[in-house]
Amino acid sequence: MRHFLSTQDWSRADLDALLAQAAAFKRSKAGTQLAGKSIALLFFNPSMRTRTSFELGAFQLGGHAVVLQPGKDAWPIEFELGTVMDGEAEEHVAEVARVLSRYVDLIGVRAFPKFQDWSIDREDRVIHAFARHATVPVINMETITHPMQELAHILALQQHFGTNDLRGKKYVLTWTYHPKPLNTAVANSALQIATRYGMDVTLLCPNRDYLLDPRYMDFAARNVAENGGSLSISHDPQQAYRGAHVVYAKSWGALPYFGRWADEKPIRDAHQHFIVDEAKMALTDGAVFSHCLPLRRNIKATDAVMDSAACIAIEEAENRLHVQKAVMAALAQ
Ligand code: CP
Repeated sequence: MRHFLSTQDWSRADLDALLAQAAAFKRSKAGTQLAGKSIALLFFNPSMRTRTSFELGAFQLGGHAVVLQPGKDAWPIEFELGTVMDGEAEEHVAEVARVLSRYVDLIGVRAFPKFQDWSIDREDRVIHAFARHATVPVINMETITHPMQELAHILALQQHFGTNDLRGKKYVLTWTYHPKPLNTAVANSALQIATRYGMDVTLLCPNRDYLLDPRYMDFAARNVAENGGSLSISHDPQQAYRGAHVVYAKSWGALPYFGRWADEKPIRDAHQHFIVDEAKMALTDGAVFSHCLPLRRNIKATDAVMDSAACIAIEEAENRLHVQKAVMAALAQ
C-alpha cells in the first residue's frame, strides 16, 4: 500500500504519469475511477481550495467525500503513544485511523505545525501517525509540505510554457512579508519540486535565518545532482529577479525564531519591500508569477501583479482539482 505524503517518495516517472492524468482530467472532467469508493478528509486547520477541490474531485470521479474537523465536529485526537489520556483528546489516532480505514478507501490529512517547537513540528507526527495506523492510503493535504500544491504548480508551469520540460527556466522562490509567521510547507514544497524538475532555482529571502529546514535544503541539493539545474541563495531582490522566467511567492516564519515570534517580528517588518510588484517583475525575462493562495493583496503581491496577465495563481488553484483527482484515482486502484 502506497501513501502520498511527499513527492520525494515518488519517482519522476510516477509524478509525470500523475501530471499526464491530471491534464487529461482537465480536458475531460468526469470519470468513474472512484465509483463506489470514498475518502475521509480530516482538517485540523482551515481550508478553502483544498476542501472544495477534494470534495468535488471525489464526486466527479463517482466517489464520496466525508469531511471531518477533529476537535470541532469530530472528537479531539491524541497522537502520543503510551500516554495517559487525561487531557482534551477523547480518542487515539490508533483507533481513529483503523476505524476510518474500515469505512473509507482513502484518508486525506491537513495538519499544520503548532508553531511552538520546530524540533517537534518537523517530525510531522500527525500525518505519520495516520500513515502508520491506517490500512488505506493516506494523502497529505498540507502539513509541513504541500505536495498537492507542488503538482498543481508544475502542471500550471508546463501548460504556461507549452512544454513538460522545464529545464533551463530561471525560477525564483521569494519570501514575502506577512503580518504573522506562516508555515514553511509551501516553501519547502516549491524548493523540492522546482529542483526536481531541473530548473535553475534561486531561494530569495531576507537573510540566512529564513533558509528552510536542512531536510528540504538537502532534498533540493540532491534533486539538482540527479536532475540538473541549480540552486542558489540570494538576499537581494534586484539580483534575484533579473532574467527570471518564474516568480513564486510565499511568506514563512524563520525557523531559528520558532516559538519566539516577537523576536522575529522586527526582521519581518524590515523586509516589507520584498512584496512582488511591477518594478521587480519588470526586471525579469517576462516571468510568470504564481502563489498557492490565500494571498493578502498589497502585502505579498500588488494588485497590479495579481491582475496582470503574468499571474497564473488562479490556473494553479484550478489545477488542484485535477491533480488531486489523479492522485486519488491512482491510490484507490
Ligand atoms: N492553497 C491551499 O491549500 O489553499 P487552502 O488553504 O484554501 O486549502
